[in-house]
Amino acid sequence: MLETIHVDTIGRSYPIHIQTGLLEKWLPEMTDLLKGRRWTLVTDEHVSKIYAEFLEVISGDLLSIITVPSGERRRQWHRQCTVLELLAEAGMNRNDGILAFGGGVVGDLAGFCASIYMRGISWVQIPTTLLSQVDSSVGGKTGVNLKTGKNLAGSFHQPLAVWIDPLLLKTLPRQEIWSGCAEVVKYGILEGECLREWLRNNWQSVTNLEPDVMTHLIYRCLQYKAAVVTADEKEMELRKILNFGHTAGHAIEKLTHYQFTHGQALRTGMLVELDIACRLHRVSRKKCNELKRFVTLIPEAEQIPDFPPEQLVEAMTLDKKNRDHRISFILPREPRGVDEVLLSPSEVLRLL
Ligand SMILES: NC(=O)c1ccc[n+]([C@@H]2O[C@H](COP(=O)([O-])OP(=O)(O)OC[C@H]3O[C@@H](n4cnc5c(N)ncnc54)[C@H](O)[C@@H]3O)[C@@H](O)[C@H]2O)c1
Ligand SMILES: [Zn+2]
Repeated sequence: MLETIHVDTIGRSYPIHIQTGLLEKWLPEMTDLLKGRRWTLVTDEHVSKIYAEFLEVISGDLLSIITVPSGERRRQWHRQCTVLELLAEAGMNRNDGILAFGGGVVGDLAGFCASIYMRGISWVQIPTTLLSQVDSSVGGKTGVNLKTGKNLAGSFHQPLAVWIDPLLLKTLPRQEIWSGCAEVVKYGILEGECLREWLRNNWQSVTNLEPDVMTHLIYRCLQYKAAVVTADEKEMELRKILNFGHTAGHAIEKLTHYQFTHGQALRTGMLVELDIACRLHRVSRKKCNELKRFVTLIPEAEQIPDFPPEQLVEAMTLDKKNRDHRISFILPREPRGVDEVLLSPSEVLRLL
């Protein structure tokens, strides 16, 4: 089953292809796209070991392969400078392109390099984690971390295409599956009861990574994200809604020094923000509990410590989305929908 979604942004319109076995059997348009220019593949150490055979097969068609250390804490400024130097050493020019083969960390780093190397070259994403397949590979946000915080340097640079093979998820550690499930659950809360009901009914098949179910799930999540990105590529308004759960989630990631997966922090972040929505009477206690039960379909795979509210609020004040000394939250409202709500740190403290 091949699913294709088109993302239409101002600068570019590009396809997302989702199919099990896509990496084994390339579509003609994938081969054509590769033939058009020279490519360097960027991946991480972990993925390059697991998919050594695939890299061996494809290497004949590539100019070079760059392998970066795996993990969030490695996505730093100097790492990106090294990748840029390696692109130059490989003789990459403005007509060449980058294939990003890995999870969100590789995608964000490789995409940022593609956006600034020779003032911007083409790139294609081949996401290998659930989180990157349902979320980060689409939308063109790229970036690296600075010492002061996550994603503080970055750009919008849309890829030429996104190629998704759900079979790649078979090698993913369980905690990374749960991490991706947090973004899936986030879409369930944003999109509404229809997706939530489908997820509740198919949860077992999702967690068993059944290929057709995963293809459908990735399709539905990306269809939602593509529509949002098409309407608001640069996150001026609508795209902010994708940040539900992330204000508290990012604060937890920062307080725990990124030692937990993004999804585990997001799971807790969504629970915290649902309580805030309830205390602001945006949703009833009954609805809040129903949504919290939905979030807790994801097990607490890693035990995140409880932080004193003061510490949480302090970490939230550093969020990029904040304005006028107020903290930005995306909160659900009844009967449906979400809105951005700006709250002062003292109000948040009162609500926690
Ligand atoms: N650009 C965006 O719009 C956007 C959106 C959401 C998240 N993100 C970013 O994405 C990052 C998180 O991405 P992630 O969760 O994919 O993390 P990740 O890229 O660090 O991957 C997680 C781990 O899984 C390994 N891995 C990757 N694919 C594998 C496979 N198929 N089999 C076995 N192991 C595999 C990696 O080596 C790594 O150790 C964060 O930095 C987050 O900020 C970006
Ligand atoms: Zn996220």
